[in-house]
Amino acid sequence: MLVMDEAFDPHWGEAWTRAQVASSLTMPHTYALVVDSEGRIDRPADAREPAGFALIRSAPGEEELLLIGVRPRFRKRGLGRILLESFFTQARKKKADRVFLEMRANNPARSLYTSLGFEQIGHRPDYYRLSDGSRIDAITFGKSI
Ligand SMILES: CC(C)(COP(=O)(O)OP(=O)(O)OC[C@H]1O[C@@H](n2cnc3c(N)ncnc32)[C@H](O)[C@@H]1OP(=O)(O)O)[C@@H](O)C(=O)NCCC(=O)NCCS
Repeated sequence: MLVMDEAFDPHWGEAWTRAQVASSLTMPHTYALVVDSEGRIDRPADAREPAGFALIRSAPGEEELLLIGVRPRFRKRGLGRILLESFFTQARKKKADRVFLEMRANNPARSLYTSLGFEQIGHRPDYYRLSDGSRIDAITFGKSI
């Protein structure tokens, strides 16, 4: 939640509450990866100084990135990429052959996702509602692993 509180601009309304995260992690197929400032991937309970996290849901043959965030002061050091590559490794271990994610249409993270091989597979107009009540499209990405 330390990362959640720092990483997500409230304007976009993307951050999850503690209750939402706790509830998702009680589901057997949802898990979190945490990266520390040195780029080490840990299970949340073992993390030293958490710098970023990814929340992931597994389904038969595919895995979905639900949320990824890195604290502003640790950005642009490759930690987001480390989290995504660890996500691919975990997905391969579970014999998934596809991974997915969805983001608001104007998210600059798009260039990170495409540099890792994600391709746009869907576009949902006016899908997300922002804190000021306006709406923004969602873009869905997929990647074979
Ligand atoms: C997206 C995010 C996790 C990337 O984390 P990171 O540790 O900075 O990622 P990396 O250092 O591995 O990669 C950085 C790349 O991400 C892209 N990027 C992501 N967000 C960016 C931003 N706000 N401004 C510029 N580039 C951005 C760039 O392509 C950048 O590449 P570059 O360093 O070659 O310019 C981080 O920016 C973040 O937490 N953003 C806010 C939360 C969010 O929007 N999450 C995604 C939707 S759930």
